[in-house]
Amino acid sequence: MTTSLVTGATAGIGAAFARRLAAGGTSKGGGRWGGHRLVLVARDEQRLAETAEELRRRYGATVEVLPADLAGDEGIAAVEARLRDPEHPVDVLVNNAGFGNRGGFLDVPVEDEVRMLKVHCEAVLRLTAAATPQMRARGRGYVVNVASVAAFMPRGTYAASKAWVVRFTEGLATEMRGSGVRFLALCPGFVRTEFHDRAGMDASRLPSWAWLDADAVVATALRDLARGRTVSVPDVRYKIAVGLARHVPSSLFGAASSRTGRRYDPRGGASGAGK
Ligand SMILES: NC(=O)c1ccc[n+]([C@@H]2O[C@H](COP(=O)([O-])OP(=O)(O)OC[C@H]3O[C@@H](n4cnc5c(N)ncnc54)[C@H](OP(=O)(O)O)[C@@H]3O)[C@@H](O)[C@H]2O)c1
Repeated sequence: MTTSLVTGATAGIGAAFARRLAAGGTSKGGGRWGGHRLVLVARDEQRLAETAEELRRRYGATVEVLPADLAGDEGIAAVEARLRDPEHPVDVLVNNAGFGNRGGFLDVPVEDEVRMLKVHCEAVLRLTAAATPQMRARGRGYVVNVASVAAFMPRGTYAASKAWVVRFTEGLATEMRGSGVRFLALCPGFVRTEFHDRAGMDASRLPSWAWLDADAVVATALRDLARGRTVSVPDVRYKIAVGLARHVPSSLFGAASSRTGRRYDPRGGASGAGK
C-alpha cells in the first residue's frame, strides 16, 4: 500500500492531490498513484477531520490527520517525526501548503514575509530532508513541491520563495538521479482555490480563461511525475508565459507582469500576478 503525506490537504490544490491519491487512479503517462493510505496536514483540525471522513467514505482510504502549523518549529517538527517513522514509511510527499501576502514589499509587515519563507522554504526543506533518506534506502519515492509560475518572474517575496522551490527541486533531482526517488516542482498559474480570498486579493477581474482547475492541475502534475519530468507547468498558456519569462529580460517582463498585477488586484496591492 502506498502512503502519501500532503500538506495543506484541506483546500484547493492540496485537497485535489488528496482526492486523486486516495482514489489511486492510474495516470495517463503510466504509473499507478495510489493506494489508500493518506496523511493529511493542515492547521484547522475540524476541517482535517471532515476532509478525512470524506476520503474514507468516497474512496475507502485509510486516512490519518496531522494538525500542524508549518509556520512554526513545533508544527514542522511534528511532520518531520511522522515522515521519519520507520514503522510507517511515506512513499509520496506533497509539499503544498502555502499562502500569499497582499500588497507590495513595503506594504507587507516583514514578519509576514518571514512567515511565508518559513512555510514555503524552510518547511519544504526540512520535510524533504526528513522523508528522502528512507525513500532512498527503499529505492523508491516521490516528492512533489508546489511552486508557481511566479517562480519565473521578478515579483517580490512570493515569487522569490517559489523560485527557491524550483531550484531546490531541480538540484535534488539531479543529485539523486538513479536513486529511485523522483522530484517534481509543480508550477501552476492562477488556480481556483481559496488562495486569493484568504490573502484578501480581488481576483474578480481576471479573465475566465486565466483560471485553471485544481483537479486538472494535479492530474498534469502526476502525469509529469510519472514521465520523469522535474518541472511541471500545467496548461499551454502558462507554458508559453514561462518560456517568455525565461527568455525576455527580467526588467521588461517584470514591468509587464507588474501591470498585470495592478489590474488583477485593483484594491491597490501590486503583488499577486501569477500566483
Ligand atoms: N491558487 C493559485 O492560484 C496558486 C497558483 C500557483 C501556486 N499556488 C500554490 O499552491 C499551494 C496551495 O495553494 P492553494 O491555492 O490550494 O491554497 P488554499 O486553497 O488557500 O489552500 C491552502 C491549504 O494550505 C493550508 N495551510 C495554509 N497555511 C498553512 C500553515 N501555516 N501550516 C499548515 N497548513 C497551512 C490550508 O489549511 P489551514 O488553513 O487549515 O492550515 C489549506 O489546506 C500554495 O503553495 C500556493 O502558493 C497556488
